[in-house]
Amino acid sequence: MRSKLTSEPAVVLHGVGHGFVRDQWLFEGLSATFPRGTITGVSGPSGSGKSTLLSIIAGWEKPRRGRVVVARGTTIRWVFQNPFGVPRRTALDHVALALLARGLGRAAATAEAAALLADFGLAGSADSTFSALSGGEAQRLMLARAVAGHPDLILVDEPTAQLDRANAATVNSVLAALAARGSAVVVASHDAETLAACDAVVDLSARAATAQGEAAHAHP
Ligand SMILES: Nc1ncnc2c1ncn2[C@@H]1O[C@H](COP(=O)(O)OP(=O)(O)OP(=O)(O)O)[C@@H](O)[C@H]1O
Ligand SMILES: [Mg+2]
Repeated sequence: MRSKLTSEPAVVLHGVGHGFVRDQWLFEGLSATFPRGTITGVSGPSGSGKSTLLSIIAGWEKPRRGRVVVARGTTIRWVFQNPFGVPRRTALDHVALALLARGLGRAAATAEAAALLADFGLAGSADSTFSALSGGEAQRLMLARAVAGHPDLILVDEPTAQLDRANAATVNSVLAALAARGSAVVVASHDAETLAACDAVVDLSARAATAQGEAAHAHP
């Protein structure tokens, strides 16, 4: 019975604190819930720990304090701040491979990959190699690939930083659609429109200010 799908938290943070320098904390005492069917923003200035928090949520980084509880069986996809792909592989194949990995046949994977590329405004780049894509195109491709994996939890780092307004709006609406399908979406962003579209926002700026003093405000 999955009717409560949209209210089940994929991840819960209990009093999480982390920092890389002894006696210095990027954030402390952070408690938050990341429910399925919602988008949670992570905001804060450059260096405040947004990417670090995503890696803690993903379980890649162990926090110095607190606990991270991930629901059993949760599948996680991460879309990096700096996209990397296989230089000579086409855009279409990057997405199709994720679908083949889910068990789709070649023809179905190719068709769904083409549809996903179109969702992200990349229909015209399907046959381009990864190395020929712009930074913004490459990042949208990484998003399309993550979506193809149908994850329970998708962590997206600065998805609109390299995009113009129209493509940023496309990405924001696709993230909303993903959440509507039942994924828990966590998006680290500086973008006011992206954050405005979130159901909740974890703001690291105040925590960085108390933990790091003036330095945290150097790059708003
Ligand atoms: N593995 C690491 N070892 C040591 N220091 C690290 C490590 N990862 C991050 N840091 C430091 O922790 C701080 C927070 O980094 P993080 O990448 O989480 O910030 P951010 O909020 O994502 O910044 P941006 O908006 O520029 O992406 C930075 O000062 C960074 O140099
Ligand atoms: Mg970052």
